[in-house]
Amino acid sequence: MSGSRPTLAVIGGTGALGSGLARRAAKAGYEVVIGSRSAGKAQALARTIGARGTTNAEAAAAAGMVALTVPFSSHAAILEELAPHVDGKIVVDATVPLVPPKVARVQLPPEGSAAVRTQAALPGARVVSAFHNVSAEKLGKDGPVDCDVLVFGDDVAARGEVVALVQAIGLRGLHGGPLVNSAAAEAMTSVLIAVNRRYKVADGAGIRITGDLADEGGGA
Ligand SMILES: NC(=O)c1ccc[n+]([C@@H]2O[C@H](COP(=O)([O-])OP(=O)(O)OC[C@H]3O[C@@H](n4cnc5c(N)ncnc54)[C@H](OP(=O)(O)O)[C@@H]3O)[C@@H](O)[C@H]2O)c1
Repeated sequence: MSGSRPTLAVIGGTGALGSGLARRAAKAGYEVVIGSRSAGKAQALARTIGARGTTNAEAAAAAGMVALTVPFSSHAAILEELAPHVDGKIVVDATVPLVPPKVARVQLPPEGSAAVRTQAALPGARVVSAFHNVSAEKLGKDGPVDCDVLVFGDDVAARGEVVALVQAIGLRGLHGGPLVNSAAAEAMTSVLIAVNRRYKVADGAGIRITGDLADEGGGA
């Protein structure tokens, strides 16, 4: 714990999305543990951002909040590896169920979404999903990011903690409702990939919710 904030493990934290999330969270004052299949690889990155690095399983065991940033192709295997370490913890799933080569086409899994699949595989965890619609390019830069992050989860308090994480790292986090709604944001990523291709968006298209929102602080 760092103050009232949980220690954040970033599983697959050496990757495009996870490294940006880890770096921003460490800068915002979270205690961050980067997870990797290779502890050495995680440690090398961790040294550069003021975090710790270790294996995925050890990172999950050490944290109160566990962010999942691995490709969909390794989702099922990672869930199995994390299962013994996440009971009672918040698992923040950023997985988008992209199935190459047609990643600009919506291809949701039979469960309806990656997030629902995660909750089924980790019944003791408080699964929240987020970050589907922010590009690694944007997250990898410094400063505020001009796009919204929709946050989904059935545990409203857990969802609020993830909205707070999003806000702390320089984006606007918005409650998007129950975990089943994650399908909409997961599907939207393929739409954004299509937009990126059609309009040559170098740093990745994002989403913005319009309207005069009350209570943007984002608590539960
Ligand atoms: N990239 C984006 O702009 C973006 C945006 C929104 C959401 N997402 C979602 O975030 C997740 C991560 O995306 P990414 O672009 O960051 O992926 P990535 O860079 O390709 O991979 C992330 C990390 O996952 C680990 N990994 C790769 N293959 C693995 C395997 N077979 N088993 C276990 N771990 C493996 C690797 O870490 P180690 O080699 O260190 O183990 C890698 O650094 C995906 O589900 C993606 O859909 C991505």
